[in-house]
This record gives sequence, C-alpha cells and structure tokens, in this order.
Amino acid sequence: MKEINLPNIRQAQFRDRNYRAEIIRDAVKLTPEQKIIGNGLNYHVITYGCQANVRDGEVISGILENMGYTYTDALSEADIIILNTCAIRENAENKVLGEIGFLQSFKRKKSEMIIGLCGCMAQEEKVVDVLMKKYPFVELIFGTHNINRLPQLIENIIHNKQRSIEVYSRQGDIYEDLPSVRQFKHKAFVNIMDGCDKFCTYCIVPYTRGQQRSRLSKDILAEVQYLYANGYKEVTLLGQNVNAYGKDLDDDLSFAELLGKVSDIGIERIRFTTSHPWDFSDDMIDMIASRKNIMPFIHLPLQSGNDEILRLMGRRYTSEQYLTLFDKIKTKVADVAISTDIIVGFPNETEQQFEDTLKVVNYCQYDNAYSFIYSPREGTPAAKMIDNVSLEDKKERLQRLNAKLGEYSKMHNVAYEGRIEKVLVDGYSKTDKEIMCGYTESQKLVNFRCNDAHVGDIIDVKITQGMKNSLNGIAVENKKGVQ
Ligand code: SAH
Ligand code: SF4
Ligand code: F3S
Repeated sequence: MKEINLPNIRQAQFRDRNYRAEIIRDAVKLTPEQKIIGNGLNYHVITYGCQANVRDGEVISGILENMGYTYTDALSEADIIILNTCAIRENAENKVLGEIGFLQSFKRKKSEMIIGLCGCMAQEEKVVDVLMKKYPFVELIFGTHNINRLPQLIENIIHNKQRSIEVYSRQGDIYEDLPSVRQFKHKAFVNIMDGCDKFCTYCIVPYTRGQQRSRLSKDILAEVQYLYANGYKEVTLLGQNVNAYGKDLDDDLSFAELLGKVSDIGIERIRFTTSHPWDFSDDMIDMIASRKNIMPFIHLPLQSGNDEILRLMGRRYTSEQYLTLFDKIKTKVADVAISTDIIVGFPNETEQQFEDTLKVVNYCQYDNAYSFIYSPREGTPAAKMIDNVSLEDKKERLQRLNAKLGEYSKMHNVAYEGRIEKVLVDGYSKTDKEIMCGYTESQKLVNFRCNDAHVGDIIDVKITQGMKNSLNGIAVENKKGVQ
C-alpha cells in the first residue's frame, strides 16, 4: 500500500464551527511486528521551533522507542533521523533545507538509513512538493496530525520499499495516551491544547496545527499528577493560546480554574505559555497572584505598538488595551517578570508606526523579548499585501529595537544584584563545568558557583551580577564550602 496524502492549504484553513474534536485514546497501537522493527537500530530526532514541537519530538521519540529503536547522539550511527520542523519564518525553513542537504551525505554511505521530515513544514503544500520532486532520499514525510501513524509509515518504507508521505490538513483531533520520552526528569511540558483559531494575518500556525482543541481537564490533571508523583518539580502548560483554554469545550474548566486545580496538586512550579492578550481574564491574574506555585512570569506578545498595524495583523486589541492589561498584571502579581514577541516591518509599516512600537517598549520595559523581521508565509492574508518597506529599513528597525530591548533586560537583571533567588537546577553550564545553571521563579537564567547541588534541586542563590541575557550568582549554602 502506498501512503500518499498531501497537505492542502484550503482544507487547512477551513473551520466547521459545529465540529467537535474527537478524543482518541490509546492513540498508538503497535502490532507485534511493529514492536520489533527497530530492534538493534538507532534513531535521532532533531527538533526546531516552539515548545509544542519539542513536546511532539518527545512523543516521536516515545513511539520509536516502543518500536525497539535506541536513541543515538551520533547522526552517522542513526538508522532513522527525523527532522521535526518549524514553518514560522523563512529562515527557520532554510535552516532545515540546509540540514537535509547535509544528511544526504550520511544516506549516501548508508542507503538503508531513513530520513524523515515532520512538523509544521510538512503541512505546507510547497515544501512537500519540493521534497517530493527534488529530495527523493527523504522517504518519510508526515504531518502534525499524523504522528500517531508513524509505526505504519515506517513499516511501509521498510517492508514495501516505498516512500511514506502522509499529511492530513484537517481541523484535528485530540490524541491521548501517547508514549513519550521526556527531555528532562525534573521539568516537563504538558499540552493543554493544540491548534489555533485566531488567524493573525501573518501567521501560519492555524494552518499547520489545525483548529484550537483543548484536552479535557481530567486528562491534563492526571498527567500533572503523574509527573508530580514521579518527582517532577516544574510543569509548563502549553498551547498557542493557553488563556483561551476550554472555550471549545462545552462544559469544562476555564484556564484560570485549570490553573487552580493544577496548583492544588502541589507541584512546586507551574508555568504556562503563550498568553494572547485578548483572552487574558481578571480571574487569571487573580489566580496567578494568589498561588505561590504559579510562577510570576508571563509571556505577553505585543507584536506591534501601533493600532493600525495591530488591526491589519488581526490581533484584536489596541495598544491601549494591551497597556491596561500590562499595568493590571504588574500591579496585581508581586515581582512579576513580563516578556514579549515583536514583529518589525509588517507590510507597509511606516517609521512613525515603528516608533509607536518603541514607545510601548519604553513604557513596558520588558524583562525579555523576542524580536523578528516579518516573514511572508504563503497562504496567509498578509503575504498577499504589497509591501513598500525595504529589507534594509526593516533590518535597521530591528537593530534599533534590539538595542532598546537589550537595555531593559540588562536593567532588570542588574536590579537582581544582591538578591537571593530560588533557582531550579537544570545542570552544568555549557562552557564551564564548575558552574551550574538554572532558572529563577521569574524565568531568569542564572549561572552560579556551587559544588553540592543536583539537577532538580531548588536552592537559594545569591545574585552577584546581572548581564543582558543572564545572571551570575553563588549558592547560599554549599556543604563543601563555596569556592
Ligand atoms: N501563539 C503565539 C505565537 C506563536 S508564534 C502568540 O499568539 O503570541 C511565535 C512568534 O513568532 C509570534 O509571537 C510572532 O511574533 C512571531 N511570528 C509569527 N509569524 C511570523 C511571521 N510571519 N514573521 C515574523 N514573525 C512571526
Ligand atoms: Fe499565530 Fe496569532 Fe495563533 Fe499566535 S494567536 S499562533 S500569532 S495565529
Ligand atoms: Fe513553528 Fe509550528 Fe511551533 S510553525 S513555532 S513549530 S507551531
């Protein structure tokens, strides 16, 4: 049987308001043959993009391990390599196409190696078309709605010696009981929803991920309970729009109520991302403010500070509404840190409109921010707009914006000097094995001297220096003596 199902952008944007996502339990069932396909073979998964993709990567690893495959760090030793891709901007895609070219050299040396591509790029008509025509050695292509079909797709390649290409463009269902190999043993991502119905005019996510569909709260709570019982210290609740959680369910909790129930479980740290300003309720703010284990850190994407651009982007708020929400959060949540996303150079953005963004940035003085040059995404409404702003101007605006953002993040970090912060220890610093690293409650990265902590400990660290992107510190209690 040849597995071919190609992405279709028109289907991807279709929303039937009456459609209720189906909950598919025990979503990956393996036949006895599939359970041993990977015995003696190695796999490697390379993940790009957002945390939703990281979580998908964990599920893909889980499925492969259930099929008998063993993880390897070395690409040359892998029998299957899967690129779990992101389509959010053109440069994200170019990186992946470069990597595929590189992987071809491995395939030349080892012809039975399977090279696969999945994730958001697999949902794009043009990408799959190019892969089919120009990259015949990419034998496995599957979409974001097809992850549970991985065993059948691999079986088809191995047994029928055929390419497996299967991408559904549909509103999407909810898969439960997926196997997974989590990246960490002390902190975990928990999907609370998938997809997005906001259709911001620049954004490809609603097309690549399908409609917004929330998991039942009982399934989310059972997952958090399991993680808590297994020693996890932190969960991050994931969704493109976490505060719209439950709006697609008839009779379940709101996001504020869900946060309360997750908090009741008693896990030390709860985070969530991303919050769309439009759905941010007062109940949510009150819940965050009232619970010690809900971390005082909020990612609140601005995108632009100009009302006309916000309208063209389809963001559903004005700069004034955004600032009102921002002030409310800052006033009610003690010691909160707020980060943001900003796009510069949306089609026809004027210098004046860009300066409105700078004004909001100067007001909000964000703790941290991600800034991007607008990248047209085929199939989205903004990609059809004629744009009179040159790339040079866009780059220059990005530079000016980044200089400001850097100033503010450094200012916040310097203000931490002398403070004692609770840090969840992640491991050793990449550059110096004498130094450990972890995050404060407000999600600031700290590199600190300490010789007696373990990954997963929450320890007091005295902050000695604040820099642009991180803090330096020293553990307060060091049984073997601080060096
Ligand atoms: N759901 C989140 C965003 C997910 S995408 C939200 O609504 O905020 C992450 C970020 O990528 C976005 O916040 C936006 O700043 C940026 N982004 C999305 N599409 C983009 C595009 N076409 N060009 C440039 N940046 C984009
Ligand atoms: Fe994209 Fe907007 Fe949905 Fe965020 S809310 S994922 S920016 S469409
Ligand atoms: Fe990228 Fe898809 Fe996430 S486009 S940002 S991986 S939802």
